[in-house]
Amino acid sequence: MEKKELEQGTEPSVDDDWNPVERVILERRSVRYYRDRQVPENLVRRILEAGRFAPSAGNYQAWRCIVIRDRGMIDAMEKDVRMMCRMLKPVLAWETSPLGPVAKPVAKTLTWLLPNKLHHEPYGAIPAMADGKVGVFHGAPTLILLLKDKRGPGKPEVDIGCCGENIVLAAHSHGLGTCWVGFVELLRQNPIWKKRLGIEYPYEICEGIALGYPVGKPDGMVPREIHHVKWFENGTMKVLT
Ligand SMILES: Cc1cc2nc3c(=O)[nH]c(=O)nc-3n(C[C@H](O)[C@H](O)[C@H](O)COP(=O)(O)O)c2cc1C
Repeated sequence: MEKKELEQGTEPSVDDDWNPVERVILERRSVRYYRDRQVPENLVRRILEAGRFAPSAGNYQAWRCIVIRDRGMIDAMEKDVRMMCRMLKPVLAWETSPLGPVAKPVAKTLTWLLPNKLHHEPYGAIPAMADGKVGVFHGAPTLILLLKDKRGPGKPEVDIGCCGENIVLAAHSHGLGTCWVGFVELLRQNPIWKKRLGIEYPYEICEGIALGYPVGKPDGMVPREIHHVKWFENGTMKVLT
């Protein structure tokens, strides 16, 4: 969207130019191709610091981060996520499942029981991931795992979303690329990874963020729906479109 430049000392209107913070928010895109160049440690620390200052319910900060910059380890995690996808594929891709007619009712029941967990968007990607057609960590040289403290008050996932988004935006402001990787949750119950990463109660894997220098410029603006906003003021209601 074209915006006019904002005059110094004036209140911005919706038509004025985006300020630097808004620009970072609006221009960030998920990056799925990374250069073969590691992110300097001080930059990662700086980005984590942005995450640490995220808001959280009761200021409980129901998250912990694990940074993985070991190529072998990231590849091994990717392999195990794919293995989980191969186990789920016969149920989710029921039309072509070797389980035959049983697969459809099982898939429907599971989707009904776990509507968010097995939502066709994005979990429709699981069969492609199982077949190696879709990347998991997209070749990023650094992976930040966001762990959830299960004792967190209210909805700790929301806190983790705040923390992760601070990380993602700070990274973008430094010219780095990121991609949230929700599929990493498929390793949550895996005892090998719990042991290897030293994850114990009350923590569990919640989300991942792939981090690195992007190859080229990512997709451009991914379409966003226009959600109408109801606005109540002085006894009247208007709808922003
Ligand atoms: C919680 C969460 C989990 C996500 N998981 C994945 C994932 O596993 N793999 C992936 O490629 N993208 C993942 N994404 C990225 C979304 O696909 C992306 O944000 C969305 O398509 C909008 O595109 P944009 O980020 O470029 O604006 C995830 C995003 C969020 C917020």
